[in-house]
Parts: sequence; structure tokens; C-alpha cells
Amino acid sequence: MPLQLKFLQYNLAATVSTALILLGLLSAIITPSFFAHATDNTSLVSENQDGLIFSDGQDFRFPLELFNGLELRDGEDEDEDGDEGLDTRSLDVVRRGPSGVSSMANNEFQHDTIKIGETQWWYFPKEQVNGKKSNVKSGFPASIGVDHTAGENHTQPSNGIWKRSPTVYISLTTCSKPEVSTSGSGNASGFPQLEVYVSKSASLQKPGPGKDSSSQIFYKAHKGYMSAAIEADGDVFIGVAAPETKDYKGEYKYQIAASIDTYFHTVDEHDPFLYFLDADTTAALLVSNNLTQSEPGSDNYNEWMNFSTPYTMFAHNVNDTSLAGLELSYCALNQHAHVSKKTHEVRESMTNRGLGSKPKEQFYVTGLNRSSFYYGILARDGNGTKSGNKIVGGGGKVWKPMNFTTKAEENCAVLFDLPFCSEVAYAVPSNPSLTISELSKIYDNNARKLYRNFSYSLQQVQCDATPESQYSLAVNCTACERAYKEWLCAVTIPRCADFSDNAHFLHVRNAGQKFLNGSSIPPENHLRKFPATNSSRNPLIDKEIKPGPYKEILTCQDVCHTLVKNCPASLQFSCPQGKQLDWSYGVRNESGIITCNYLGAAYYLSHAPSFCQRAWSALIGIGGFWVVFWTLGF
Ligand SMILES: *[C@@H]1O[C@H](CO)[C@@H](O)[C@H](O)[C@H]1NC(C)=O
Ligand SMILES: *[C@@H]1O[C@H](CO)[C@@H](O)[C@H](O)[C@H]1NC(C)=O
Ligand SMILES: *[C@@H]1O[C@H](CO)[C@@H](O)[C@H](O)[C@H]1NC(C)=O
Ligand SMILES: *[C@@H]1O[C@H](CO)[C@@H](O)[C@H](O)[C@H]1NC(C)=O
Ligand SMILES: *[C@@H]1O[C@H](CO)[C@@H](O)[C@H](O)[C@H]1NC(C)=O
Ligand SMILES: *[C@@H]1O[C@H](CO)[C@@H](O)[C@H](O)[C@H]1NC(C)=O
Ligand SMILES: *[C@@H]1O[C@H](CO)[C@@H](O)[C@H](O)[C@H]1NC(C)=O
Ligand SMILES: *[C@@H]1O[C@H](CO)[C@@H](O)[C@H](O)[C@H]1NC(C)=O
Ligand SMILES: *[C@@H]1O[C@H](CO)[C@@H](O)[C@H](O)[C@H]1NC(C)=O
Ligand SMILES: *[C@@H]1O[C@H](CO)[C@@H](O)[C@H](O)[C@H]1NC(C)=O
Ligand SMILES: *[C@@H]1O[C@H](CO)[C@@H](O)[C@H](O)[C@H]1NC(C)=O
Ligand SMILES: *[C@@H]1O[C@H](CO)[C@@H](O)[C@H](O)[C@H]1NC(C)=O
Repeated sequence: MPLQLKFLQYNLAATVSTALILLGLLSAIITPSFFAHATDNTSLVSENQDGLIFSDGQDFRFPLELFNGLELRDGEDEDEDGDEGLDTRSLDVVRRGPSGVSSMANNEFQHDTIKIGETQWWYFPKEQVNGKKSNVKSGFPASIGVDHTAGENHTQPSNGIWKRSPTVYISLTTCSKPEVSTSGSGNASGFPQLEVYVSKSASLQKPGPGKDSSSQIFYKAHKGYMSAAIEADGDVFIGVAAPETKDYKGEYKYQIAASIDTYFHTVDEHDPFLYFLDADTTAALLVSNNLTQSEPGSDNYNEWMNFSTPYTMFAHNVNDTSLAGLELSYCALNQHAHVSKKTHEVRESMTNRGLGSKPKEQFYVTGLNRSSFYYGILARDGNGTKSGNKIVGGGGKVWKPMNFTTKAEENCAVLFDLPFCSEVAYAVPSNPSLTISELSKIYDNNARKLYRNFSYSLQQVQCDATPESQYSLAVNCTACERAYKEWLCAVTIPRCADFSDNAHFLHVRNAGQKFLNGSSIPPENHLRKFPATNSSRNPLIDKEIKPGPYKEILTCQDVCHTLVKNCPASLQFSCPQGKQLDWSYGVRNESGIITCNYLGAAYYLSHAPSFCQRAWSALIGIGGFWVVFWTLGF
């Protein structure tokens, strides 16, 4: 039965646990000075041995004067506020910890600065350990069919009802690191990671380096992150130590939290869960993995598509070492990453583009430098909808970093979310004099017009006929329309690469035109002799966009074969063969590099042999018809 302290003149109320009274500590909690300070500064600690520690996220100590005129009364239960009509703040007073040890409350992080060689102490009192679980369910829609180790966990870790002791989840993130000392031999990533010592023993209330190792457990942060799940039924004492070193100077900043629900800070070190689609000189487009595998139209699918973007991402130049050694720390990324939501250079939205048309989140990242390497790091701010203290998982989650590069030349621009060619999400030949929206219109309207003529032709075929008279039992006009649209968008909106990029699978286009800087390829150069390299496949590009010479990642052969296979023979589609096939279409490879363009192409997306490849082998089996691409009017 807790007691409530009520002191009117300061409009403050505090709930003091009975234990505190029983322990006879009331006299001891009164100290002669008043301050609210979260840091354990040694000099302050010695002056304030008996600070009252409150669990509102601050180490809050009371001066004697404030207790004058206090009214003590019995409270019936902990939730009772008892201060009706007053502007009150209810503070749960936790038992006093040992001196120099600050208390933590469930799901409330603390942050502090620690100098090299210093140790700081925290404790998670047994009232918190044995407290009531927050019992919050994940607010995310279910991730049906998605590997849970890679995606979100939908069940909070829980130790079954019959387990004896509650589990305490401790996590620490390093927000900033010490500097390399000029006299030492340190490097930016090699600084000693923070160390965490955990004791459950009342005889070791200040665990740390050099203390009895049988009564403490030792953890070391890794890339700025540390976590531990501890079974406990009493107080948990935590020491945070910054190891002694001569090679670095200065201090660390860190966040620490304890929870009986789940980790406040989380990481996934095994899967980046993030894929690179394409970039131009200043922007990049990335996409998360599928958030669910449920079918379009299902409730779960719609819930995800309607869900407001739960993830964010950070991009950081790989040549900048300010984050080296802190890659798994949300607070470090949020403070130091070159590009983030905080810098207003990450635009998030939901999309169902790509393989399987499953819900995903896409990230359009701007403010990048040309020809640069970046780490891309997927993250969740807090629990996805809310962050900060008192939120279960409020410290956020960080995934494994992946990397991507930006282009060198100005004549490729990333396009996505086109109204008609909605599957386009890559860099296309462009000209800096055109805005992204002008560029989108030119390409998209052109494809739409061409598609309209195709629709008229398709209507001549027996599409609405009964299955018996349909052109094929296996496929119908819906399949043909889809295959045609994919092929049309891919070949009229080519995927652009730097002219200076020498990858073997790239194909030179538009060599006859001047570069943006005014220079041109000499007329005697062989690139200018063949129409396939002297001009673009889509003449509109040379005429209206004028990108100058560029390279193209050719559309995959299987995109053409899928078209041929899915459309009625009377439309007389066929794919070129031999040299002409090589000039017009590319082949996939398994390395993770995009060597040809297809729907949903993403870098390092491991794909099982797709239906396209099966279609290709089926086609080889039939062997028959082919029509050269160039005869289709481009
Ligand atoms: C402790 O705090 C005092 C007063 O704020 C300050 O002068 C002193 O430098 C601090 N000491 C340490 C070790 O941080
Ligand atoms: C985040 O936490 C808030 C408050 O506890 C909760 O209402 C919300 O559903 C949580 N969001 C998710 C995505 O779990
Ligand atoms: C940085 O220093 C650490 C420890 O001294 C060493 O293990 C690591 O290889 C160094 N890294 C680089 C990039 O030099
Ligand atoms: C998704 O949003 C649309 C439009 O706001 C709404 O009509 C639909 O009912 C929502 N679906 C679900 C599953 O929430
Ligand atoms: C940046 O890093 C990349 C890859 O590690 C390297 O190829 C490049 O030369 C570096 N650039 C600079 C300016 O250091
Ligand atoms: C998404 O799911 C599809 C199949 O439904 C799969 O082919 C694809 O690799 C998955 N990942 C991405 C990022 O598209
Ligand atoms: C771009 O380059 C400048 C100059 O080298 C650098 O200061 C800046 O941090 C870089 N920005 C990004 C996002 O890489
Ligand atoms: C970028 O990622 C690829 C594939 O994961 C890896 O092979 C490569 O070493 C990485 N490059 C850098 C600079 O980290
Ligand atoms: C569509 O077909 C008509 C009639 O055959 C032709 O005049 C027109 O140029 C075609 N449009 C396109 C965009 O090819
Ligand atoms: C075409 O076939 C698919 C499945 O094979 C079917 O879902 C679709 O309704 C059919 N479309 C028409 C117009 O018959
Ligand atoms: C190459 O392209 C240029 C500009 O588009 C054109 O003037 C020239 O005639 C073309 N050369 C050949 C051989 O087609
Ligand atoms: C013009 O740009 C092209 C491609 O970026 C480059 O190869 C060429 O050297 C540049 N010419 C001049 C004179 O800068």
C-alpha cells in the first residue's frame, strides 16, 4: 500500500512506495540542495549522497524546504491521483539506490556523457523488474509469409507464464564517440566500444572493470550497440564503462534503457532489408523488402498499403568516418548521418511496384554528391509510429548497412511513380534543362499513346470469346496486355547508365549527338556508324530530350519472350535472334548486379529462377516465330 505525499505550495505530488517508508529512509532522502540532473558527476554525487530518485526520466533530488508543509496521507492504490483540482505531476518515487547510482524505469531511456576511463552506474529497481508488463501489441499489420528474422517481430519476446523470473531487456546505444588523439595510433573506427557490466547481487551494486567477475556479467557494445536479456527478480545493477585508452581523447554520449517488455533499442545485423533500385548524380531510389506476402486485394495487403510509412533510412558517405564504429546506433545515425529525414532529404512512401506486386516502402533520397559511395541504412523511428520514453521499443531499430553509388554524369535522372508506366523506377536518359515532371510527362505520355494503338489491335483478336475460341487456353488478353505494357515501358523508357561506365553489358546509345558539355564523339568513331549506337532506340529521346551520348542497360530478353508467349500469334510479335538480339536485349546474371532491366529490378535481390526463365526455355522448345524489334516502329 503506497503512501502519497502531497505538498500544495509546489503543486507536486509524489507517490512513495511503502518500502521506502518501512526502510526508514525518509529522513535520509532530505538533502540540502535542489537540482535535477541526470548525469552522475562525481563531485555532485558526493555532495548529494542521499538523492531522492524519481522515475520520470530524471534523477530528481528534493531540498529540505520542499518537505515543509507536506501533507502525508494514505493512498488506496497506485493509480489514485488524489490531487483533484490541482495542476499536479505524479512522480513515482523509487527506492533510493546506492550513492552515485541512478535509477531507470521501464521503457524510459536515460542518456549521459562518459569520459574515457570513467564508469557510471544505473540500476533497475526490483519494483520495476516485477512491475506490470506494458502488454502492448504490435501496431503493425501482420507480415504474412515474410521471414520474421528479417522483418518485424510481431510478438514481443515473452517469458512464458510459468517461468519463475521476469526477463529484463537492457540495451545501450552509443550516440557519439571520442576523437582520435593526435599522439596515439588510433583510427576512426577502432575506438574502444563502451562496456556494460551487469550485477544482480546486492553485494555488487557498482559493477565495473576490475570487480568480482563471478557476480557480474560483462558485455561490450558492437558498432555502437549492446543488448542483454537477463532473468532477474530483484534489483539489477548496471555499470557503463569507457575503457582506458591513450589513442583517443574526449568523451562518449550514450543512451541506456531497461525494459520488462522488450528491447527499447533493437538491431538486425543480418539483413539490410533494403534494396537499391537506381541513382542519378544527386538522388537515389531504394526500397524495403516486401512487408507482407499476402495477395493484392486481401485485407492484410490493404492494411499495409494504407499504413503510414513505418520505416525511414539514413545515407552516409562511406569515405566519411564520423559514423565508423557506430553503425548500429539509432541515435548516432540520427545525429550524424549525412542524409536523413532530419535533413529533409529522405522522402518515404508505400509502393507495390516490383516482383510479386507486394507492399513495400520506398525511399527517394536527395542531396547526394556525384560519383560517391554511400551506406544506406534502414531504420525504424521508435516503434514505427511513436518514439521516445514510455513507448515499448521507443528507441528505434537499425538494420545492417548496405551500400550504393551515385552516377557521374548529368544525363541520367531517376524516375518513379509514373502514372502509366508505374513499374518504372530507375534512371532514364535525361537533360538537366528538363524538370523531373517534364521528363516524366514526355516518357509516360509517349508510352500511353503507343499502348492505345496496341489496345485497338488487341480488340481485333477474340479476347472476349468463350474459353474454347480464345487464342490460347493457357493465356488470355489480360496476360497479353500486361506483358505488352511491361515490354513497352521497358523499351521506350530505357534504363540509363554513365557513358564513362565501362561495364561489359552496357550498350552505347545516341553517340551521334553532342555531349551536354558541347564536345562530341569524332565522326570517324565506329559508334557513330551504326544506327544501334548512333541513336536511341526510341527516337523521341534524341528529338525531345537530347541527353547526348549515354549507355543503356538493355531490357532483359525474357521480357520480350514473355510478350511473345502471352500474346496471340496473329499480332505477329517475335523477338530478334543472333546479333540483333544482343543489340536489343540483355541477359540476367546471378551476381546481384543488374545486367539487364526487368520489372522490379533491384541490386542484390536474390531471385529464384523466375517464370520468365521458364518461359524462355518453353519458347526454345517451340522454336518457331520471331519478329525483329526494329520492325515494331522504333
Ligand atoms: C561536475 O560538475 C561541476 C559543476 O557543474 C563541474 O564544474 C565539474 O567540471 C564537473 N565534473 C566532472 C568530472 O564532470
Ligand atoms: C507504438 O506505440 C504506441 C503507444 O504505445 C501504440 O499505440 C502504437 O500502436 C505502437 N505502434 C506500433 C506500430 O506498434
Ligand atoms: C583501426 O584500429 C583497429 C584497432 O586498433 C584495427 O583493428 C583496425 O584494423 C583499424 N582499422 C583501419 C581501417 O585501419
Ligand atoms: C484503405 O484506405 C482506403 C482509402 O482511404 C479505404 O477505402 C480502405 O477501406 C482502406 N483499407 C483498409 C484495409 O484499411
Ligand atoms: C571513397 O571510397 C571509395 C570506395 O571505398 C573509393 O573508391 C574512393 O576512391 C573514395 N573516394 C575518396 C575521395 O576518397
Ligand atoms: C518480394 O516478393 C516477391 C515474390 O512475391 C519476390 O520475388 C521478391 O524477391 C521479394 N522481394 C522484393 C524486394 O521484391
Ligand atoms: C558532399 O561533398 C561535400 C564536399 O566534399 C561534403 O562536405 C558533404 O558532406 C558531401 N555530402 C554528402 C551527402 O555526401
Ligand atoms: C557494397 O556492398 C557489396 C555487396 O554487399 C559488397 O560486396 C561491397 O564490398 C560493399 N562496398 C563497400 C564500399 O562497402
Ligand atoms: C496509332 O495508329 C494510327 C493509325 O494506324 C497512326 O496514325 C498513329 O500514328 C499511331 N500512333 C502512334 C503513337 O504510333
Ligand atoms: C485471364 O486469365 C486470368 C488467370 O489466368 C484470369 O484471372 C483473368 O480473369 C482472365 N481474364 C479474362 C479477361 O478472361
Ligand atoms: C548519327 O547521328 C547523327 C545525329 O543524330 C546524324 O546526324 C548522323 O547522320 C548519324 N549517322 C549515321 C551514320 O546514322
Ligand atoms: C564532355 O563530357 C564527356 C562525357 O561526360 C566527357 O567524356 C568529355 O571528356 C567531356 N569533354 C570536355 C571537353 O570536357
